[in-house]
Amino acid sequence: MGERIAKPEHIAVAPDAPPVVDVRGLWSIFGKGTEAFTVHQDLNFTVQRGEMLSLVGGSGTGKTVLLRQILGLARPARGTVTVLGRPASEMGREGAASRVGMLFQHGALFSAFNVLDNVAFALREQGTLPHDLVRDAALVKLQMVGLKPEHATRMPADLSGGMVKRVALARALIMDPPLLLLDEPTAGLDPSSADEFCELLRELRAALGLTVVMVTHDLDTLFALSTRVAVLADKKVIVTGPPHEVAHFKHPFIEHFFMGERGQRAMAPVKTAPAPAPPAVPEAVPPPDKEQP
Ligand SMILES: Nc1ncnc2c1ncn2[C@@H]1O[C@H](COP(=O)(O)OP(=O)(O)OP(=O)(O)O)[C@@H](O)[C@H]1O
Ligand SMILES: [Mg+2]
Repeated sequence: MGERIAKPEHIAVAPDAPPVVDVRGLWSIFGKGTEAFTVHQDLNFTVQRGEMLSLVGGSGTGKTVLLRQILGLARPARGTVTVLGRPASEMGREGAASRVGMLFQHGALFSAFNVLDNVAFALREQGTLPHDLVRDAALVKLQMVGLKPEHATRMPADLSGGMVKRVALARALIMDPPLLLLDEPTAGLDPSSADEFCELLRELRAALGLTVVMVTHDLDTLFALSTRVAVLADKKVIVTGPPHEVAHFKHPFIEHFFMGERGQRAMAPVKTAPAPAPPAVPEAVPPPDKEQP
């Protein structure tokens, strides 16, 4: 665990530049009539270039829905989602892959395609490059995520959990998008594979200068990688800030999430080696009708 508690790689964040992701007044409503339920209600947050923002929240609070809205795969009922200066809803399937890469919550490799064809998929769909160049580009991405050329012809069913994640990551990065979305990247991995995958994410983020939005329940992953955390509760983002400051924000979900046994374990090593000086106060995003703690 000590490894994963290492501080997140420092990448210059550009606070004055336009945000890479800007979510304003977002409402997500599912179902109709008496069955209708609201998942997000006037939710706001931004992600600056170079940030590694972790989104945390209870199950069903709409974290995956939010990533899908950033990717342009789902539209909010109200509000705007702007990605790299353009409405997310305007991104076509192919355009999206060169702007935003996504590692889906459940791996989601095409089971009938081998590793290489999975990785090459978006580039091949685009149809602008000859077959050989597409293959070479996919092989470069495989190497980038620590896989070997001989893995290229394997089928997804023959891969370990850690390898599936690596292939999915290579596929998300095939068109060199500046923004990467990760939905539970280490879920289902054993601790040592999770450590390795965190290390890979940290290295790639630094090498490629990526902006990353990650959903995770795993506190080791969160502390190892995040420059900032945004907490989803009460249908909105209730607070954002550096992990160790958000951990002390007074809210029942946060207390349960960070101060439970798992949280104490994940935070313990950093008590002796605190993270580098973050801004003094987490940026509370209070609902207008509630008192600030
Ligand atoms: N297309 C849809 N139609 C109807 N309901 C949906 C749809 N997509 C998501 N939901 C509902 O929205 C809520 C939020 O779902 P979401 O998958 O975003 O949760 P989550 O925060 O990612 O949860 P988990 O941590 O378990 O992955 C859930 O109640 C889910 O059933
Ligand atoms: Mg989810």
